[in-house]
Amino acid sequence: MDFSLRIMLLIFACVISQLLILSSSQSCSSYSFLNQNTYRACSDLGVLKSFLHWNYNETTGTIEIAYRHASIKSQTWVAWAINPSRKGMVGSQAFVAHQTSAGIVQAYTSPVTTYGTGLEEGPLSFPVQKISAEFVNNEMIIYSMFVLPKNMTTVNHVWQDGPVNKDNSLGMHALTGENVISLATLDFLSGQIVATKLGDGSSNLMFKKIHGGLNMVSWGILMPIGVMTARYMKVLALKLRPNKENKYRTYWNIYHHGIGYSVIILSIINILKGINILEAVMIWKPIYIAILIFFGIIAAILETWTWNIVLNKRLQTSNDDSGKEKISSLGL
Ligand SMILES: *[C@@H]1O[C@H](CO)[C@@H](O)[C@H](O)[C@H]1NC(C)=O
Ligand SMILES: *[C@@H]1O[C@H](CO)[C@@H](O)[C@H](O)[C@H]1NC(C)=O
Repeated sequence: MDFSLRIMLLIFACVISQLLILSSSQSCSSYSFLNQNTYRACSDLGVLKSFLHWNYNETTGTIEIAYRHASIKSQTWVAWAINPSRKGMVGSQAFVAHQTSAGIVQAYTSPVTTYGTGLEEGPLSFPVQKISAEFVNNEMIIYSMFVLPKNMTTVNHVWQDGPVNKDNSLGMHALTGENVISLATLDFLSGQIVATKLGDGSSNLMFKKIHGGLNMVSWGILMPIGVMTARYMKVLALKLRPNKENKYRTYWNIYHHGIGYSVIILSIINILKGINILEAVMIWKPIYIAILIFFGIIAAILETWTWNIVLNKRLQTSNDDSGKEKISSLGL
């Protein structure tokens, strides 16, 4: 198959899958709270069976939230946090809830200052007016009301779950799966408008996750395979490199290969940058680098082998007077 046609097909596949993701609907807006609370906006957070409902008062900067985490065991803590300073865990201002072994639901705030946090209780960097929680039908709900600076309507937020130890201290959350991608950007203001339309910051997370995955697979892995196949299979098929005299042919080849290699290098950079931006999925970086090294080794072996064939062939053709008539249209 032609190289550019293959790229077109990949792009087409990515576009189609993204449209499918966008059309998947939102499930938080139909939820009704046992305590009759109502919220004007909500967001299906996409991972860890979590949902955020909120009211935002523009005049006062007051935010009322209900964070729901469904399908959890009783010996589990949950947390929802805003990070006013950066993305990710450190610096997060967390709202935490869990059930003690005596069956009492506790809810409190915890500023996260290190990765080694035990989510100890403490005041947040902004005023918190209320916090409470309830655990019903394997669902933990944290209710809170707090005030953000008025110019801070878009925040980074993270949510988590983890085990509660026998002594009621909180254990570390998992470092795999959905627990490392449970973060997003949330716009309290426009979220109210877009929440029921497209999904919002959170379904964006899901979107980003799948989009990133597709990109990584298609551009970062399939394309190098495609290029390697195209390059080395030609040799395998014909075991002949054309002994072209035409110097324009050489320029054309340089151009052709130059473009191909630039595209690969750019997509590799793109993927590494993507991994850095979604800092939570850093675990993919060493895996992807390992895949690249593997490709590199295979390419080096095949390249050596190719040039062996090419040089042997050249030696043969230069010893053979009829060689010049054996020119093939193959561009390697
Ligand atoms: C915002 O808070 C102010 C002061 O408490 C109140 O008068 C106003 O009605 C609130 N606005 C909304 C939309 O709830
Ligand atoms: C928000 O306002 C505060 C105080 O008025 C200011 O210090 C801060 O830099 C502002 N932040 C942004 C993002 O504009």
